[in-house]
Amino acid sequence: MVLLDGKFISEKIKEEIKIEVQNIKNNGGRTPHLAAVLVGNDGASLTYVGSKVRSCKKVGFESTLIHLDENISEDNLISEINKLNDNDQIDGYIVQLPLPKHINEEKILMMVNPKKDVDGFHPFNFGKMAQNMDSFIPATPHGIIELIDRYDIDTEGKNTVVIGRSNIVGRPTSILMSNKSKPGNSTVTLVHSRTPDIPSFTKKADIIIVALGIPNFLKSDMIKQGSVVIDVGITRVQDKTKKKGYRIVGDVDFESVKTKVSYITPVPGGVGPMTIAMLLKNTLKARINN
Ligand code: GUN
Repeated sequence: MVLLDGKFISEKIKEEIKIEVQNIKNNGGRTPHLAAVLVGNDGASLTYVGSKVRSCKKVGFESTLIHLDENISEDNLISEINKLNDNDQIDGYIVQLPLPKHINEEKILMMVNPKKDVDGFHPFNFGKMAQNMDSFIPATPHGIIELIDRYDIDTEGKNTVVIGRSNIVGRPTSILMSNKSKPGNSTVTLVHSRTPDIPSFTKKADIIIVALGIPNFLKSDMIKQGSVVIDVGITRVQDKTKKKGYRIVGDVDFESVKTKVSYITPVPGGVGPMTIAMLLKNTLKARINN
């Protein structure tokens, strides 16, 4: 069994980005600049956005955190988005999800200038990705593909099962794995909460990507010997023995599954750190495109 070390690979990617940023600066170019919009005080979102902003510093990017009150009106949020669209010092930005219930998420994501959409959530970028055209690929699916690529895992003609159909992870990952590319060229089945017998699919899968948000969902009796398992779950579970009062638990029952697999991502330290690295990569791409 090989552990897919997302922490190690993401550090390597960040080093590569840092060198490119240094080259831009040495040639008199402007420093790449990422902004993050956070509405409200959701604990997990605060952690993720904080981590994204800190990572910018590590690679030599500028970053701006726009932290807005959770009661902000939709119109005022749109005016903040428009300011970012008009600010030519900002190369790319993200709107951290979820947004409060009174705000129409779809409407907000549609307002993001596709050229600054480093999350790749705008339908313009999503559509381009689905047609295998050059675009911003959402950071988590991009991180999964990059991890598979860096470990040289063969995906061509393999049976890939993606569990979960979210716009952020499951659906884009299923598209990327079936695209005519490397990694890709896989035969993909997308299963979800309305699929009657998920084990009947996972038992036949060469590659399983789990993005459900249900701790320890995938058990060893649901997979075949030698499969590749990618765990996207990051559920916070209360744990008084931890300093933070919680621990992060994946969607895979790691202890039982690890004895059967050829490759597996740990949680934490697998897909999570790759997500941030790919967001930085997208920001660098936005800077270069500008
Ligand atoms: N919420 C959960 N994952 C993400 C992500 O990748 N980007 C943004 N903007 N919000 C998220």
